[in-house]
Amino acid sequence: MPICGRGEALMPELISDLKEMRRVVKEARRAGKTVGFVPTMGYFHRGHLSLMERAREENDLVVVSIFVNPTQFGPTEDFREYPRDLERDLALAGEVGVDIVFHPPVEDMYPPPYRTYVEVEGITETLCGAFRPGHFRGVTTVVTKLFHLVPADRAYFGAKDAQQALVIRKMVEDLNFDIEVVICPTVREEDGLAMSSRNVYLGEEERRAATALYRSLCVARDLLEKGERNSSSILSEMHRVLDEEPLVRPEYVEIVDCQEMRPLDRVEGEVVVALAARVGRARLIDNLMLRVDEEGITLLP
Ligand code: PAJ
Repeated sequence: MPICGRGEALMPELISDLKEMRRVVKEARRAGKTVGFVPTMGYFHRGHLSLMERAREENDLVVVSIFVNPTQFGPTEDFREYPRDLERDLALAGEVGVDIVFHPPVEDMYPPPYRTYVEVEGITETLCGAFRPGHFRGVTTVVTKLFHLVPADRAYFGAKDAQQALVIRKMVEDLNFDIEVVICPTVREEDGLAMSSRNVYLGEEERRAATALYRSLCVARDLLEKGERNSSSILSEMHRVLDEEPLVRPEYVEIVDCQEMRPLDRVEGEVVVALAARVGRARLIDNLMLRVDEEGITLLP
């Protein structure tokens, strides 16, 4: 089944050499072109493609990186099994008009002995950070390296990984990166399940049970729409939905503010209603980014 349809698609150029990648982007910018960059770990789904489409609309040159980054996986996590299919990814990227796919080898990104890491403090210890020690350190390190190798005007991230997007936005601000971070809406399956490369780990029953994540977010949204502002009342209703599915084992369910990523007692301002759960061998996350004020609620971004 084609997941998008653009007449005659061109295959993107594939670059794996680090110096060549930077040279091509610098040359394009010197020639006055704007460059949009989408960092990924590949195994594309419509969520990834939506970022590429947005980058295509807003820039002259679109670069996508595919790099399964070992430093953001814990020792017991799925680095080895993480799904990979470069040929399919190249064809899909071509269909949405991507110009260049950057696919560097691990040993070139982290030549031993590798010693330098980038860490954002204070907003990486909660939510996913609490369950995946070192994860965000790996993400901010690789994204820093990628921003140096692909010195773009804009970089595109999905709201699906809200904490990641906000951590990167903060890193860019704090370290004065000359790049605009664009956060794009979460793309979902018809039944609400957020698209994720890890959804392939789900068996049939697990796939059905996994819809509870989005259903519980919808319950939170409905309560907020009705004027509920008490965090613990909302969280207990969310837990009730998740508890109906024995195959879903929640890791966290929280409502935090977008600045500090700290749990709120009273829900107001820019917030993330976020959850993570294990379903079978998949670890799934989802969230709603919202602005909550007297007038009501607005979905962000
Ligand atoms: P990956 O999981 O491949 O995701 C790449 C980008 O796609 C991220 O910005 C992610 O938020 C976005 N994305 C994933 N699912 C989405 C969905 N359903 N809707 C919209 N966007 C979605 O996130 C990573 O890779 C890595 O941590 C990375 C940033 C590349 C660093 O290694």
